[in-house]
Amino acid sequence: MTDQKPKLTLGFHGRIIDHLGIQMYQSPTAAIAEVVSNAWDADADDVKIKFDFTSSEKSDWTIEITDNGNGMTLKECQSRFLSVGYNRRESKGPTEKSKEKSRPVMGRKGIGKFAGFGIARYIGIKTVSRETTEVTEFELDIQSIRKGDSYVSTTELEIAVKNHSEKTILPHGTVITLRDLKIGKRIQDAQFSDSLARRFAINSVADQFQISLNGNPVIESIDATGIEMSFPRDLPEADKKERNIEIDTDGLGKEKLPNGKEVSWKINFYKELVKNEEIAGVTVFAHKKLAQRPFMFNLTGGMASQAGPEYMSGKVIADWVDELGEDVISTERQRLNWEHPELSEMQEWGQALIRRLLSIWKSKRTEKKMQALESKMDSFSSRIGALGSEGKVVKGALTKLAQIEKLTTEQFTDMGHAVLLAWEQGRLKELINQIANSAELDETGLLELLTEANAITALHTAETVKTKLLAIEGLQKRIDEQQLENAVRDYIAKNPWLISPRWETFAKEMTVDKICQKAASSTLDKDEAFNGRVDLVLSSDKQLLLLEFMRPGLPLDRDHLNRFNEYIDIIHEKITADTALGFDHISGYLIADKLEDKTGMSKAIKDMKQNERYAMSWPTLIAQARKQWIEFLDHIKLRAPEDQRVQAIHVNDKTVEDKANNK
Ligand SMILES: Nc1ncnc2c1ncn2[C@@H]1O[C@H](COP(=O)(O)OP(=O)(O)OP(=O)(O)O)[C@@H](O)[C@H]1O
Ligand SMILES: [Mg+2]
Repeated sequence: MTDQKPKLTLGFHGRIIDHLGIQMYQSPTAAIAEVVSNAWDADADDVKIKFDFTSSEKSDWTIEITDNGNGMTLKECQSRFLSVGYNRRESKGPTEKSKEKSRPVMGRKGIGKFAGFGIARYIGIKTVSRETTEVTEFELDIQSIRKGDSYVSTTELEIAVKNHSEKTILPHGTVITLRDLKIGKRIQDAQFSDSLARRFAINSVADQFQISLNGNPVIESIDATGIEMSFPRDLPEADKKERNIEIDTDGLGKEKLPNGKEVSWKINFYKELVKNEEIAGVTVFAHKKLAQRPFMFNLTGGMASQAGPEYMSGKVIADWVDELGEDVISTERQRLNWEHPELSEMQEWGQALIRRLLSIWKSKRTEKKMQALESKMDSFSSRIGALGSEGKVVKGALTKLAQIEKLTTEQFTDMGHAVLLAWEQGRLKELINQIANSAELDETGLLELLTEANAITALHTAETVKTKLLAIEGLQKRIDEQQLENAVRDYIAKNPWLISPRWETFAKEMTVDKICQKAASSTLDKDEAFNGRVDLVLSSDKQLLLLEFMRPGLPLDRDHLNRFNEYIDIIHEKITADTALGFDHISGYLIADKLEDKTGMSKAIKDMKQNERYAMSWPTLIAQARKQWIEFLDHIKLRAPEDQRVQAIHVNDKTVEDKANNK
C-alpha cells in the first residue's frame, strides 16, 4: 500500500446509468459480451468465464470473467473505468487500433462496463496494469450509485479501494466479478456458449483470442451437414463475375458497394427451417462485434419466395460501419441506424442481394425436386416422352408442384408419381392441365390434386395387387400340375414379388450368378435332384438371396438338405471372400415338396434357420405369398375408405384362406 490512501470517485449522477439503459443488457449474453469486448480492446488473448452456481442460495451465485490483457493503473481506473462516455478512440478517431496487437477497437461509447448491472447488483474489479504492475481492486454497487438523491451530480461518490499496491509480481490482466445476480435460474453452458460466440466474428486462432466457459472453448454450434446451399460459393458464375467477388477458403466473399465501401459476406440456406431466432436472417458485424442482430435488410414484400427467409442464416462483415464519424450503432449494440446515408446504400445492396439469393434458391430447389423425381421414379423421362406433346403438360404441372416450397422432396416425388400415373390412366386430365397453365398454384388447387392423386395411387396399387394375386393363382395351377418348366422359373426370377411382397425390391443378380454356377459345377453337377433345379440369385442392396427350387412333387430327403447346405456354404465362402461384391447378408431358401415325409427332417430344417437358411414347401410358399398380398390389399382399402373404386376391388379370399389352412 502507498502512504497516501488512494481514492476513487464516481463523478456523475447515479441515475445516468439507468438512462443509459442497463435494462437493455438483461440477458447474460449481452452483459458478458461487453466484458469480453473490453478484454479484446485490452489486447488480451485469453478470456476465462466461470459460473459458480453451486450454492443453493441464489444470492451466492457469481460470474467471474478473467482476462490477461493490459489491465489498468489506479489512475486509469479513475479516468477510464469510472467515467461515463470516456472516448477510448481519442487519438486516431474511429479507426483507432489497440495498443499492443493493433486490433480494431470494439469500444466506443464508454458505457459498456455498466452492462454487468443488467444482471448483477455488484461489479467487482481487480486489475493489474501491464505497464506498472500495480494492482487495484474495488467494487461498484448499483444500489448505492443509484441513490441519486443523497448524491447529486455536483458531489462525487466515493468508491472504496479494497486493495492497491504498486509493483506486484501478479500477472497483468483484469478480473470482473458479478455477484448478487438477477437471473431466474442457472444459465445453461451450451446455450450460453453458442449465444455468446454468435455475438462476435472472431476466429480464435487467426485473431489470437480464446474465450472459454467453465474450461470449455466458447464456440458456435453449426451443423454443416444441414446446409443446403452456401452463397456466394453457389452463385451462378455470371453473378460472381458481375459482383467481382473474391471468395476465401471459409466461403466468405469480399465485394465493394457502389460507394466503394467493402463488405464480406456469406449466406447459407439450410435444409430445415432455421428455428433459432439468434441466427434466422443476416447478422451484421463491425470490428468483429455484432452491430445488427439477424434481419432481412428491412425488406418488406416483393420477394421471389415467401418461405425462403426462414431457411436463411448469414453474416455481413462491414468494419467501416464502426468507423463513420457518427456512431451508427445503437446503445444496446443490436441495431444499426439505417437512415444514415452510407448505411442506406448498404441496405439497398443487401435488399437486392437477398432478392437475388431467394430467387436462385427457389429455382434450385425446384430443380432439385425434379431431379429427385427423375432419379426415384423408374423411367420417368421415357414415360414423359411416351406421352408425346402431352408430356409437356404433365411436366409443366410437376414443375409447378416442385415450386411449392413447403413440400418436402419426398412428398413431392410421391405426388409426382401419382400425377404421372393419373395422366397415363386418362384421369384428372383437366385438373392437371389447369395446374400446368396456372400462373401460381394456390392452396386449394394443391389440396384438390393431393386428394385426387392419393386416391389414384391407392386405386392403382389396389389394381396392381389384384393382378399380382391373379398371377399367383396361375403359378399355383402349374405347381398343382407338377410342371415347373423353365419359362415359369424365369418368370419368378423376373418377378420375385411372386414369392413375397418383401422381395419386390430384389433383382436378379448377374455377377453372383456366375459364381454360383461355378460353385455348382464343381461339386453338385452330378446330382440328379439338383439337375432340374432353378438357380435363382436375387439381390437388394447388401443382401443376397439364394433360391433353390426343386421340382414339385419330389419329396425332400436328408441328402438334398445336406447338398443345399453345402452348396450355400461354398457360395458363402466365395462371396464373402470377394469384398468388392459388397454383400454382408446372405440367406437361402430351398423350395421343395413333402418336407416332413422322412423322419428327422423337421429338426434338420429347424437347425438350418440359425444360418438363415430355410426349407419351404411349394404350397406354403404360395399360401404365404397370397396371404401377404391380400393383407396388403386390405391395408390399401382401409386407407381409402371412401373411395368406391378401391373398395370395389376383390379377390376370392375364401379359396385363398382355405388353401392356406390345409397346406
Ligand atoms: N478488461 C479491461 N482491461 C483493461 N481496460 C479496461 C477493461 N475494461 C474496461 N477497461 C477500460 O475502461 C474503459 C471503459 O470501458 P467501457 O466498456 O465502459 O467503454 P468502452 O469500451 O471504451 O466503450 P463501449 O461502451 O463502446 O464499450 C475502456 O475504454 C478501457 O480503457
Ligand atoms: Mg467496452
